[in-house]
Amino acid sequence: MKVLIISSSTRKGRTSHRVAVHLNNRFNNTDGIEARILDLAEHKLPMFEEVYVRDENPTDTAKEVAKMLNWADAMVFLTPEYNGTYAPALKNLVDYYNKTEFIKKAIGIVTISTGALAGMRSAVQLQNLIAALFGYVVPYMLPVGNVTDKFEEDGTLKLPLFENSINNFVAEFLWLADAVVAKKELAAVV
Ligand SMILES: Cc1cc2nc3c(=O)[nH]c(=O)nc-3n(C[C@H](O)[C@H](O)[C@H](O)COP(=O)(O)O)c2cc1C
Repeated sequence: MKVLIISSSTRKGRTSHRVAVHLNNRFNNTDGIEARILDLAEHKLPMFEEVYVRDENPTDTAKEVAKMLNWADAMVFLTPEYNGTYAPALKNLVDYYNKTEFIKKAIGIVTISTGALAGMRSAVQLQNLIAALFGYVVPYMLPVGNVTDKFEEDGTLKLPLFENSINNFVAEFLWLADAVVAKKELAAVV
């Protein structure tokens, strides 16, 4: 199972990326899982003008990102909440690639805030976004409030009480992702 964690904050001094690092380590320490982070601060895409398949001159970064998205069996959309919604870099990404890379993939939702509300408004909006991409929303989400109290910059968990929520998210995410991959494998041999 190949899992791509899309880390959406491009902000200098960002705090949400530490959760991406934590999840990436956790997935890579799980048997049968290979995980990577698509860091949208590192992989800068052009501001959306035309969809990738019709872009006559895609950048090398755009080609590399397309490869990463296609590589993934399942994805995690990980985003801070900005003004009641998810990060603009994430919307720019999904509009540019225009569904193809997301269709029929299990997609988990992780939202981050330095406040107590944990980005819940953006989490609910991401459910709609994933449905619009014809992806499969993992119903158990991981909203992370007060992120700097919970995670160190290197991704280490500071608050053991939060472990349970992470475990539940990972288990539910892998349950759906495994089911989708198994169904595709079955369809391929029939
Ligand atoms: C422009 C901006 C808007 C924000 N709006 C919200 C918001 O609507 N709700 C919320 O809970 N936190 C909000 N915050 C706080 C961020 O969610 C919090 O700082 C988060 O950790 C940012 O992630 P980042 O550091 O990875 O960019 C906002 C922060 C910024 C910079």
